[in-house]
Amino acid sequence: MPVIETRDLSKNYRRIQALKDVSLRVEKGEIYGLLGQNGAGKTTLVKILLGITRNWQGEARLLDVTAGRAEARRRVGYLPEDHRFPDYHSAASLLEFYGGLLGVPRVERRRRSPEILETVGLRERMHYKIRTYSKGMKQRLGIAQALFHDPEVIFLDEPTDGVDPIGRREIRHIMERLKEAGKTIFLNSHLLGEVEKICDRVAILQKGVMIQEGDIATLTEHKGTFLIGLAAGQMFPVEELAKHGYQATRRDDLWEIAIADGQEIDPVVDLLRGKGLGIRHLVEKRQSLEDLFLATVAPAEPGVDRPGKRLRDDRIQREARSRGIGEKP
Ligand SMILES: Nc1ncnc2c1ncn2[C@@H]1O[C@H](COP(=O)(O)OP(=O)(O)O)[C@@H](O)[C@H]1O
Ligand SMILES: [Mg+2]
Repeated sequence: MPVIETRDLSKNYRRIQALKDVSLRVEKGEIYGLLGQNGAGKTTLVKILLGITRNWQGEARLLDVTAGRAEARRRVGYLPEDHRFPDYHSAASLLEFYGGLLGVPRVERRRRSPEILETVGLRERMHYKIRTYSKGMKQRLGIAQALFHDPEVIFLDEPTDGVDPIGRREIRHIMERLKEAGKTIFLNSHLLGEVEKICDRVAILQKGVMIQEGDIATLTEHKGTFLIGLAAGQMFPVEELAKHGYQATRRDDLWEIAIADGQEIDPVVDLLRGKGLGIRHLVEKRQSLEDLFLATVAPAEPGVDRPGKRLRDDRIQREARSRGIGEKP
């Protein structure tokens, strides 16, 4: 039974179609990443699942009940994007306050707060005022708040936005620990490099439409392109391979060979071994999630060859960054 499931989920804000026929499933214990540039519809989808946004069409289920029902909401935690805590609180007093709102008895709150702040690495600073915290610490406090009632599913909306690399790594580690504890995590992000490191499966939204979904390994597979390295000092037989219809291109210390659809790399290996060459490296190439993302949102025109394509790719990437997609350099 999936923990989260939507089918043909659509949402309009007057004339803006924020989501169009989005179908996804998240299984228990997964870290699921929803990606897309600003305005793609990520926050809207989470808000629908949590019952914050209403008047949608299609199906949306959370923990086996229709999205928005109180019995499901009690079992989820939520870190909203761009949240702000009153900064006169300390981490400890803030959790104490929220715990009170949740109706958690005082003794329980006193016991639970340091425990959760330990989980997010804030225990030592728990009596400092929030105004002295870095952005990363505030985000970790936000996660602590989302964990207070020990939820089964945790929604994190852009948890690493505006956080420096060390802070981002800390947040990643928290997510890893939550996964180990059996929690399901739904992560909204426009930071593809981040997502690539942590998510089991991802979906890419573009203008409310899901354009890709799958596990990271499959999505980033670069089918049919191999990188081959020979033992030191051996010449790569480029011309010999060309005679057999294989074009090899140098990539630093390795050689890249693309083979035709449905073919195997074995004949290339046989050719190299037949010439007495020692193969030290052979791997099927992967593309980064960012490559995939850029290729899907801005498909390459046919017939553009490599050097030109590289330049174009660089331009697309720069544009994408300026629109807030991808890793910030
Ligand atoms: N409350 C709202 N009223 C009107 N339009 C909205 C509202 N919330 C979001 N939108 C629009 O819906 C689209 C999707 O927004 P959002 O879900 O916030 O995207 P994301 O989280 O991917 O950046 C955007 O075009 C946004 O301007
Ligand atoms: Mg958003």
